[in-house]
Amino acid sequence: MLPKKAMLSRTPPMGWNSWNTFGSNINEELIRNTADNMVAKGFLEAGYNYLVIDDCWSEMKRDENGRLAASKEKFPDGMKAVADYVHSKGLKFGMYSCCGTRTCAGYPGSFEYEYIDAETFASWGIDFLKYDYCLRPTISDGKHLYRKMAMALRRAGRDILFSACNWGADNVYDWIRSSGAHMFRSTGDIVDNWDSIKNLYRSQMEKGPYSGPGCFNDMDMLVVGMYGKGNVGFGGCSEEEYRTHFALWCMFNSPLMIGCDINNISDSAKELLQNKDLISINQDPEGRQPYLANNTNGDRHTWIKPMANGEYAIGYFNLSDNRTDVLLHFWDIGVPSLSGYGVELYDCFKHEVIGVFKDFYNPIIEAHGCAIYKAKVVKL
Ligand code: GLA
Repeated sequence: MLPKKAMLSRTPPMGWNSWNTFGSNINEELIRNTADNMVAKGFLEAGYNYLVIDDCWSEMKRDENGRLAASKEKFPDGMKAVADYVHSKGLKFGMYSCCGTRTCAGYPGSFEYEYIDAETFASWGIDFLKYDYCLRPTISDGKHLYRKMAMALRRAGRDILFSACNWGADNVYDWIRSSGAHMFRSTGDIVDNWDSIKNLYRSQMEKGPYSGPGCFNDMDMLVVGMYGKGNVGFGGCSEEEYRTHFALWCMFNSPLMIGCDINNISDSAKELLQNKDLISINQDPEGRQPYLANNTNGDRHTWIKPMANGEYAIGYFNLSDNRTDVLLHFWDIGVPSLSGYGVELYDCFKHEVIGVFKDFYNPIIEAHGCAIYKAKVVKL
């Protein structure tokens, strides 16, 4: 019997991925420890339920039957045992392949092996496949290759979330949803510094209409808590910048895939990644994208996202290099005080109501910082 596919990404998928910190430096012990700590440190409870191994997990050659084989050195017990362990913790297990002949790091890819690889993955018990875009024969059409793997996964006898990763290239917005993918990378690769975060965010400002329940725009894995260490740790970010990064990904309904080392995570990174109010904005069941309500000087932005309970998430972002105020006039979002209404704001970092405001609200925000509220329209 075919499994039920319907709701694998009713809300943006959440989890952890090995790439940002560990790159090719992965092994069974790391995955087991990470699974243990995803549970012990409260990440599973906060919603992060997928543990995903990225590139570099296999042998450099397929086995004698043409099947992908886990590296004996890194995963001596084989992937089924790793998957069983991850499942025993109540987590779901994800892996990685590529639609080209090789992966981005040069390991065997799934080109022309789509059906056999989908069967292998299903037999190991995987629940998630990230599918990359490197080393495609130039005559091949990217959208066809994603459709093919989506089809192979859909008949493999297991619910497998399909995470496409073609970096926003080749008009992916036009064809990815109909391929059957559940999320898709709409940006190039993130690295751990402020410029990267700012550039990825700017590249997504107009891409909202393409994202929604069933298939979400993926702004790439989080760098929160990396502090410049690890595979993509190019400089690191301040705590302020990590807060803005996480808040943007939450406001934009990006999948939330943690990229730091959960086994050695700092208290502040853990607190940020488990911020219930920000996560509830990201996981809002309606999955609506925000709209830009105000843009001052091109670097002070206010975004509004309607939520299922009738409230609105309001995100004030200061991309500039100076401490300054960021303004929102409430008539710009449809609340003129002449009508007798104002806005009650609940601060998602302080976790408390800060007051009822009439006409406008303009918090002072640190350079590269943000303020995020849940707003109710109330009678004055
Ligand atoms: C590409 C992807 C990254 C990562 C690497 C692995 O660059 O975009 O997210 O998976 O490949 O080689």
